[in-house]
Amino acid sequence: MSGAPDRYTVIGNPIAHSKSPEIHARFAAQTGQHLVYERVLAPLDGFASTVQDLIRQGVKGANVTVPFKLDAYALASLVTERAQAAGAVNTLSFKAGSIIGDNTDGIGLVTDIVSNAGVAMRGKTVLLLGAGGAARGVLLPILEQGPAALVITNRTVEKAEELALQFTKNGPVSASRFDALYRPFDIIINATSASLSEDLPPIAPAVFCHNAFAYDMMYGKEQTIFMRFAAQHGATVRDGLGMLVEQAAESFFVWRGVRPDTASVFAELRAKL
Ligand code: ATR
Repeated sequence: MSGAPDRYTVIGNPIAHSKSPEIHARFAAQTGQHLVYERVLAPLDGFASTVQDLIRQGVKGANVTVPFKLDAYALASLVTERAQAAGAVNTLSFKAGSIIGDNTDGIGLVTDIVSNAGVAMRGKTVLLLGAGGAARGVLLPILEQGPAALVITNRTVEKAEELALQFTKNGPVSASRFDALYRPFDIIINATSASLSEDLPPIAPAVFCHNAFAYDMMYGKEQTIFMRFAAQHGATVRDGLGMLVEQAAESFFVWRGVRPDTASVFAELRAKL
């Protein structure tokens, strides 16, 4: 190995808490890729100029986190189909004067559920709670798995209806009010930000049953309030730590063409929470 390492970054505001540098450093060590990965704090009104500056410095790519995923989408000169469906970009590649925008969040979620948790989505009924950016980002990859039905529910039901309408060409998706849901689903995914404020979305216990699988995109040392509620009503539960690691692995693959081993990194992160 010779020469300076290739540089990658994660851009956000705030950014100090980001686990991405740690994850990518482990991926690089594991696969022998010669790279460094740094945190970059961009001013709230200075995302584009921060990116241009990084490009001038020869940085090869960047992950993008809160609150810049829409800015990254707007800045990209080319976006992938999955980024276009998500309406947001979390992975930028800087190549020969162009900025390519991709989104690995949705495939990260699907890989964690289907491969890591071993829960197939094909032919299943899926309920998605939330209709914000996190929900939109996972719709296309979920529909690509071929579920029997995907129902989006949201506190503001109009946003769920709008999303469902946008994705009807991609599969059997519909919208529902929370209070009209009282039948069991096979897979229930919480894409609301309610867990951040220790809130429980207004979901009826009847949507869970002993074979249900409930996933919260949030993660932490303790189970979220949504996971506790789902488990109480019979579901098997999982948090979003695996999604974090898998979206990072997909970004690493986009940049380097190499797939890291995610299980060991997941176990190390879990132990450190
Ligand atoms: P994100 O990028 O995390 O998706 P967002 O775009 O602000 O953030 O969307 C937040 C989502 O969480 C929305 O679906 C929001 O519901 P509304 O559209 O009705 O606002 C949902 N949400 C946030 N707090 C919630 C709560 N306490 N109960 C239920 N839903 C909540």
